Amino acid sequence: MSDKELLIPYTRLPRSEWPEVYGRLEEAAVEATRRSYAPYSHFHVGAAALLEDGEIVLGCNQENASFSPTLCAERTALYAIGAHHPGAVVERLMIVAETEGKRVEAISPCGVCRQVMMETAKRQGKPFEVILCGSDEAIVISDCRLLLPFAFDGSDIPS
Ligand code: THU
Repeated sequence: MSDKELLIPYTRLPRSEWPEVYGRLEEAAVEATRRSYAPYSHFHVGAAALLEDGEIVLGCNQENASFSPTLCAERTALYAIGAHHPGAVVERLMIVAETEGKRVEAISPCGVCRQVMMETAKRQGKPFEVILCGSDEAIVISDCRLLLPFAFDGSDIPS
């Protein structure tokens, strides 16, 4: 028997130390929260993905009375990139949330979105940075794959 441990590195970055691009991503992600359709949870999530060519693509959660069709902001952004920017490479993905008009502190993506992030990284041959944006600080995960240890990445499916 051997016991193992996994460590997940991340950075807490105070707003005063944010690179300029974080400000632009935050503005975009906040705008995305305003486009969110969340009449059931009232939890408005915005995602802003920075592509390698500098373009920023937005995503926001889209809810449904039947609940299970609800799509998170992160997947909305990543799938929009697949549809509108085929072959594009995602460099960073920032996530912001608001409820009742107030910022929610750094929220973390759900497991399904992590799975989609991992496949996006695999597809584009490069991981991307995930930024959980709070009001005073951001939590930065340099490689989206770190968020999903012991992932199923499809490599065991016979081709
Ligand atoms: N949600 C997201 O859009 N992203 C997350 O990272 C967490 C949760 C959405 C799904 C649902 O519309 C609402 O937030 C409450 O769970």
